[in-house]
Amino acid sequence: MIPKEGMNEEEVLAELEERFKIDLTFNSGKILGSMCTYPHPLAQKIIQKYIDRNLGDPGLHKGSKKIEEEAVQMLGELLHLKKAYGNIVSGGTEANILAVRAFRNISDVENPELILPKSAHFSFLKASDLLRVKLVWAELNEDYSVNVKDVESKITDSTIGIVGIAGTTGLGVVDDIPSLSDIAVDYGIPLHVDAAFGGFVIPFAKALGYELPDFDFKLKGVQSVTIDPHKMGMAPIPAGGIVFRKKKYMDAINVLAPYLAGGQIFQATITGTRPGANAIAVWALLKHLGFEGYKRVVKEAMENAYWFAEQIKALDGVYLIREPMLNIVSFGSKKLKKLEGELKARGWGISAHRGYIRIVMMPHVKREHLEEFLKDLREILRKVL
Ligand SMILES: Cc1ncc(COP(=O)(O)O)c(C=O)c1O
Repeated sequence: MIPKEGMNEEEVLAELEERFKIDLTFNSGKILGSMCTYPHPLAQKIIQKYIDRNLGDPGLHKGSKKIEEEAVQMLGELLHLKKAYGNIVSGGTEANILAVRAFRNISDVENPELILPKSAHFSFLKASDLLRVKLVWAELNEDYSVNVKDVESKITDSTIGIVGIAGTTGLGVVDDIPSLSDIAVDYGIPLHVDAAFGGFVIPFAKALGYELPDFDFKLKGVQSVTIDPHKMGMAPIPAGGIVFRKKKYMDAINVLAPYLAGGQIFQATITGTRPGANAIAVWALLKHLGFEGYKRVVKEAMENAYWFAEQIKALDGVYLIREPMLNIVSFGSKKLKKLEGELKARGWGISAHRGYIRIVMMPHVKREHLEEFLKDLREILRKVL
């Protein structure tokens, strides 16, 4: 209820503190099942300073617009693209929707179809619903990567695009993007890579010596990539990224915004008014951390993943779903629901779905948190087995 007379600031803040006692916080180290993290301190300063910037009306904030363009350009360079087109958007969902929208709009087929792995994120369901594009699901291999032969067998005259995933939501699997790219080139169909999670991991993991497939614009068939700064990029929510290889994709989704205070523009994003501060934070973090800074973050995350996977293998009553490819480790158990309930009761931010519990080694997840978690897991297993 809105009070007749307003509360003073202290009262409002005190009430919020009280109300948020039930929230889990990233800093507590208890959130192990999220792809978000505590934003980098520099980003927090930037949000506070530039909170009024609106990229929905870039004529007013020309400096901010230029910074967004440079942020997209840096994401493009990270993904081996010389000239990038795109936006910093509200997240991976919006980025994926924009890619599907671009692919649909450049095609002239009557009943558009998109081929995607069964492991794809649910954002594509929203894209399908919004854009009236039929989803054609491709089977997975035993290692949970997409079956490329099945993808090829599903191509028809109505196919407007193919999706590959570089870091699946559940298991962090990187699909065989080079083979998907070959198919895309052979059939003249654009390939979208959903690297919402992996985009800020794979380039650095590769530089650290981890063997992972190529997944980006190095591959000719790849026409667009989703890469989210608000996941492993440590930017504040909301900050997703969509990068296109060619201007024609942006042209296909741009609409005229005629009545803005800053003057008429073309806008490709789903959102109109949108936060400039978050795009500025992305730019600032890329500049501040640089390649080596992100590499250090990814090193710790990957080492935690491999260490944790070994710990799980050594435990009775749980089993690894597959060896980690990225910094995600998922494990199953015959007593999964019981484990989930008991772990949650002890305050752990995890979820069990598709038959496993997923642990995401985000930057806020430290070895001591994992040790604490394993201690609880061992105790619970002793009780339930
Ligand atoms: C692979 C992948 N794509 C897209 C998304 C959607 O991202 P967002 O929640 O930022 O919209 C996620 C989120 O977990 C994801 O894992």
